[in-house]
Amino acid sequence: MRRTLTAIVVVAMCAGMAQAAELAPDDVKFEDLAVGASLTGAPGNPEEGAKALANRSLGNCLACHVVSALSAEQFHGDVAPPLDGVADRWSEEELRAIVVDAKQVFSEETMMPGFYSLNVGKDVRKDLVGKTILTAQQVEDVVAYLATLKE
Ligand code: HEC
Repeated sequence: MRRTLTAIVVVAMCAGMAQAAELAPDDVKFEDLAVGASLTGAPGNPEEGAKALANRSLGNCLACHVVSALSAEQFHGDVAPPLDGVADRWSEEELRAIVVDAKQVFSEETMMPGFYSLNVGKDVRKDLVGKTILTAQQVEDVVAYLATLKE
């Protein structure tokens, strides 16, 4: 019993520490259309990133973008440029900025949602106010995956 309790306390402390190292959405700094530092302070995991990118209730990136490397996933949209070779066009820091808040990189009018922004527009569903679509960890995972997309 005591050992279980200790384990729970240790896990809770680690979770707290991870939280503290994480940048809050309003604290993310854009410089020259790039976000230089990892939001979590650590590199992301590209395999998890591919999953978050394809997941309809997370990134749902395939609703708008084609990713040939994920051709096993169905229904890629084509309202946005294909993400094939995207790492040849943008640096990792620029890719992070695009995923965090595309409005700050392209324009206010872009269709692409800000995935780590609280500025998601007017008339937001009440349960979504103050929340981001992706967590800092998921943003880093997606960025790590995008960085693998070279021609
Ligand atoms: C609702 C549609 C939509 C969704 C969903 C979407 N995007 Fe986009 N994205 C766009 C559009 C449109 C552009 C082109 C820039 C513009 O015209 O605003 C773009 C541009 C980009 C670019 C730059 C591409 C290039 O070649 O220049 C990247 C990288 C990108 N998106 C990544 C993502 C990722 C990763 C996700 C999911 C986490 C995502 N997008 C979800 C619409 C979308």
